[in-house]
Amino acid sequence: MRLVIARCSVDYVGRLTAHLPEALRLLIVKADGSVLVHSDGGSYKPLNWMSPPCRLTEEPGRWSVTNKTGETLAITLTEVLSDTSVDLGVDPGLVKDGVEAHLQELLAVQLDRLGEGWRLVRREYPTPIGPVDLIGNGLVALAEHRDQRDRLLADPGLINTAIEEFLRYESPNQLGNRITNVPVKLDGVALPAGTQITVCIGAANRDAEQFLEPDTLDVGRSPNRHLAFASGIHQCAGMGVGRLEAATAIGRFLGRFPSYSLATAPTRGGRARFRGFLRVPCKL
Ligand code: HEM
Repeated sequence: MRLVIARCSVDYVGRLTAHLPEALRLLIVKADGSVLVHSDGGSYKPLNWMSPPCRLTEEPGRWSVTNKTGETLAITLTEVLSDTSVDLGVDPGLVKDGVEAHLQELLAVQLDRLGEGWRLVRREYPTPIGPVDLIGNGLVALAEHRDQRDRLLADPGLINTAIEEFLRYESPNQLGNRITNVPVKLDGVALPAGTQITVCIGAANRDAEQFLEPDTLDVGRSPNRHLAFASGIHQCAGMGVGRLEAATAIGRFLGRFPSYSLATAPTRGGRARFRGFLRVPCKL
């Protein structure tokens, strides 16, 4: 491994373009030709734009790294302070004390360690955000609004408007982020270009100027122009999947357990951005 400490600037052209202005940096050149750029502090990992194998070509004051997909890293060196090579030998690899799968297996055979009365139902893959939150929020809302549940049971065709209403009423993703790229005025407040904004999706979805009786759960609400998946070019890419998963799960659950009720108060996840439950104990 070669370690070079040099004053340099770096330009990457590939999936994106990036530029590091001139500064003192550590350049790590590996045996596979890849070059990693490291600065002192703030960077817990070196910048490495390209996957190996790479080819390094050196000219005085200029390095050029290329890989097989045509990405290039151009390093302009104005001063080299140190240039050393060390043979690190063969790496024995990482020795791990078990992997997650082992932990799952151990837990499965020793459920009593979690507490009394634990029972293995099936292997679960909990997803902390997105569809799982939507399903939990929807089922809790229906447990707390029996009239709306009865309406849905009487007319299962309402499932799609019901899902839109759960998305509005208890938005799984409460906050969004934007950066202004031009100066704008929002509600009389001037925001210069480059301002970071946190938008509250949950509040927008209870806006009384947009929704009639916004704090009322209405499984047949129409129109329902909520912003649970945000809007614009970065609107949620998985909204079709999220809607389908929730409609299938809630529809099937209601069909099978029409009289379910909450056994105890459900436990909220406690996060500001993602609104959902950790546990929803139910009586079926
Ligand atoms: C009910 C479930 C879900 C909700 C409420 C939700 C909500 C959101 C929100 C609010 C955004 C931000 C959009 C923006 O800033 O404009 C987003 C982005 C995104 N979501 Fe979801 N999401 C859900 C499920 C999913 C699923 C299942 C997938 C993948 C299959 C997914 C993939 C994405 C991706 C890739 C983005 C980034 C899109 C981009 O930046 O262009 N989401 N989602």
